[in-house]
Amino acid sequence: MNIVEKCKVNAAKEAIKFIRDAKIIGVGTGSTVEKFVEQLIEIKKELKDKVFIASSIDTRIKLVEKGFCVADLLSVNEIDVYIDGADEVDPELNMIKGDGAAHTMEKILTFYSKKRVFIVDYTKLVKKLGEKHPVPVEVIPEATNLVKHYLENQGYKVKIRYPKKGKYGPIISDTYGLILDVYLNGKDYHDLLETLDKLPGVTGHGLFIGYADYVIVGYPEETKLLTRSD
Ligand code: 5RP
Repeated sequence: MNIVEKCKVNAAKEAIKFIRDAKIIGVGTGSTVEKFVEQLIEIKKELKDKVFIASSIDTRIKLVEKGFCVADLLSVNEIDVYIDGADEVDPELNMIKGDGAAHTMEKILTFYSKKRVFIVDYTKLVKKLGEKHPVPVEVIPEATNLVKHYLENQGYKVKIRYPKKGKYGPIISDTYGLILDVYLNGKDYHDLLETLDKLPGVTGHGLFIGYADYVIVGYPEETKLLTRSD
């Protein structure tokens, strides 16, 4: 296991403390969440009464194949706690998410959860959002070029996301959208946020602003718990 993986495991282990009192647990998507699922498996007997809500087909498959009770999102009115990863976290705990194209559903689960906990390795900490990652924007397929050109005219570099292999054509998300990766090019994310929130054709985006209650940061030998008020 490499150092970053060890950091992910450390953060995932710490997240277990946050689910002890929860009945309905939302689970995000990605490699750090995979480590969290591995931790769940370790204490499976203690989780008999827990119901899980998955943010993606990938996470749902992983939970179901390990025998956890996974409910449909329509069957719950709220979620007690949500655990997910992130691509970038700034000092105010604002985040970019969506490298796994699951951010639309992830944002729904985040918003409707009573407690939101994000688990990251230390490489995800940034001074300013957009330092390392583009902002993923999900669009209704037919609107792709209109949204792309609109954002390009605003000065953003925009790329339609394609799979590395295994399919011709763009990636289609679990919520049947195409993903535009929007590079901030040094611009302030607030401007993009304002634009995206009013742009028809956009069904979701990976700017998670003001949503994280806690971020558990994994380091090789320890974890640090960041809370929104820090
Ligand atoms: C998926 C996400 C993931 O949470 C994010 O990409 C982090 O993934 P990883 O833990 O693999 O670095 O937002 O849409």
